[in-house]
Amino acid sequence: MNVRVANTEERELAFKIRQAVFIEEQNVPAEEEFDEFEDSSQHLIAWINDQAVGTARLREYQGWAKFERIAVSQNWRGHKVGAALMDALLEQAGERQCCLNAQCQAQDFYRRWGFEPVGEIFLDAGIDHIRMERRLV
Ligand SMILES: CC(C)(COP(=O)(O)OP(=O)(O)OC[C@H]1O[C@@H](n2cnc3c(N)ncnc32)[C@H](O)[C@@H]1OP(=O)(O)O)[C@@H](O)C(=O)NCCC(=O)NCCS
Repeated sequence: MNVRVANTEERELAFKIRQAVFIEEQNVPAEEEFDEFEDSSQHLIAWINDQAVGTARLREYQGWAKFERIAVSQNWRGHKVGAALMDALLEQAGERQCCLNAQCQAQDFYRRWGFEPVGEIFLDAGIDHIRMERRLV
């Protein structure tokens, strides 16, 4: 498996994974899933045997490196694709402080990389979320 920043053509594959995972599986409205930050974000794709199996988005947000849209195709979950995406996101973020809005069900996944919950649970696209931060010491 390897994880790379997607070029413009490959970005469509990232969008397909997000379509399947967030819109079709989790019922996120399409108009909320795809937003005005697509062009200004970095899109990562995890590849296994030339197949795009996972994706994540990284963007600058109020001085933070913000991780978003982390999704692994259903058939490939439990094979460390999500872990590889997190490692690659952190590598891209470098020395920046990182944050994300976690679905509550995925909170313990992000804790593995040093993210801690901050503040109150909130609803986004009908799903319970909590902000998590990974501060540099
Ligand atoms: C959450 C998600 C990205 C995890 O990806 P994955 O490739 O299945 O996870 P990995 O195989 O890399 O898991 C790495 C470790 O985290 C654990 N883990 C995976 N999902 C977890 C979760 N939701 N909560 C807690 N731990 C989790 C695994 O058990 C594994 O532990 P191990 O190393 O002890 O075996 C994936 O399940 C997914 O795409 N879900 C649907 C979309 C989604 O909910 N995205 C998160 C939005 S905030």
